[in-house]
Amino acid sequence: MEIFVVPTAAATGSVAAGILAAVIRSKPGAVLGLATGGSPLPIYKALAGHSVDMSGVSGFALDEYVGLPIGHPESYAEVIRREVTERLHLDPARVAVPDGSAADPGRAAADYEAAIAAAGGIDVQILGIGHNGHLAFNEPGSALDSRTRVEVLTERTRAANARYFSTPAEVPLRCITQGLGTIMEARHLLLVVNGADKAAILAAALNGPVSAGCPASVLQRHPHVTVVADEAAASQL
Ligand code: GLP
Repeated sequence: MEIFVVPTAAATGSVAAGILAAVIRSKPGAVLGLATGGSPLPIYKALAGHSVDMSGVSGFALDEYVGLPIGHPESYAEVIRREVTERLHLDPARVAVPDGSAADPGRAAADYEAAIAAAGGIDVQILGIGHNGHLAFNEPGSALDSRTRVEVLTERTRAANARYFSTPAEVPLRCITQGLGTIMEARHLLLVVNGADKAAILAAALNGPVSAGCPASVLQRHPHVTVVADEAAASQL
């Protein structure tokens, strides 16, 4: 595992974007794993400043809420459209997001898992970490070998994400998330972490026991992990 500690959140974006740009230059058909949440936004902003040909790149989002109306601004499909495909001039047809409005979300989750495999797997998976150690929406207790599936969000995660919605009650109760086992099959994991409020969980994930109680601890078992953290988030490492 390599760990870069940089002064600011903006700098985490610059370092991570540099890593992604190098991957895309060496593999123009790279498959990127795309994360939402606040932490990866500086990456997409910084990557937009690189002169890298994105025309062959494709992507898979990590997760999606279940039950939001199509086009809801806080659906991850819309966040990915605004923050990733438009900003990076990525062909939207090459970027997949789990179908949170499917009549059968369980089926949609299984189809999504199959689509990742059919694309040959993910070259670089961008990740953030939740305050409770979640990766994507794999909440504590998720099996370390879990696959893409429908999950119930914890109240803590719903409260953390309420800032994006007009009322806390509007935060969906369920999601489709790539599983920890799915994420672990990506060839390179790129975890970006900002802020003092993430310091304790980052230390637990990287230095504590590997356990379903802290889903991000599974990263310790991956052969190629890059962590990019600002000084505040790295302060307990
Ligand atoms: C969200 C997402 C995760 C993200 C995490 C942390 O709920 N599903 O993919 O990593 O929470 O988000 P943030 O970076 O905004 O703290």
